Amino acid sequence: MEVVIAPAEELAVLAADAIEALLRRDPAVVLGLATGSSPLKVYDELARRHREEGLSFARARGFMLDEYVGLPAEHPQRYRNVIETEIASRVAWPADQVLGPDGLAADIPAACSAYEQAITDAGGVDLQILGIGTDGHIAFNEPGSSLASRTRIKTLTAQTRVDNARFFDDDVEQVPTHCLTQGLGTIMQARHLVLLATGRQKAEAVHQLVEGPISAMWPGTVMQLHPHATVLVDDAAASRLQ
Ligand code: F6R
Repeated sequence: MEVVIAPAEELAVLAADAIEALLRRDPAVVLGLATGSSPLKVYDELARRHREEGLSFARARGFMLDEYVGLPAEHPQRYRNVIETEIASRVAWPADQVLGPDGLAADIPAACSAYEQAITDAGGVDLQILGIGTDGHIAFNEPGSSLASRTRIKTLTAQTRVDNARFFDDDVEQVPTHCLTQGLGTIMQARHLVLLATGRQKAEAVHQLVEGPISAMWPGTVMQLHPHATVLVDDAAASRLQ
């Protein structure tokens, strides 16, 4: 695991550099997409490169990490819509080349299996962007998640719902209680993991991720077993590293 400590703007450039290098080598690259605040500067930088330097996503494919269960199709916080707004529409990424778990599926287990199959059929994820929750979750694999888990429905912890209330008018009651999420086993099959974390509220989760014992209670620690994991953190998020 490589750990880079730098200001947030520099971290975004590093992550965008890694994505650009893959895109230049293989325009049909498969990218794993996270939502939330952590990747936003990366998406800004990729949008800038698309606009000013012609970086093309025309042949790339994208797979989202997770999705809320039950949010209406047009809800702005539905992750499919967030990804469309924050990155896909800004880089002219064809909509049918970006997939996410279907949080409105009638048959949720079947939808989760179909999503796993779609990732496999695409040849797997080349580079997976990740954030980390204050409780150590990656994607929505909350503490206690099996390190071998696959895409499935999960209950969000009270902590995660409070953390995400800022996207729902600061009203925790509006935050869905369930989500579909790639499992830790799914994420671990991506060929390169790039995790971004900024701010003091992430310091304990980053400490556990990098220096803690591997444990389902700190799900991000599974990344210690990955052959190519990059952790990009600012000073505040790194403040508990030894
Ligand atoms: C979102 C996701 C989550 C977030 C995490 C951190 O797709 O998978 O694991 O990355 O909750 O969220 P932010 O970046 O908003 O602090």
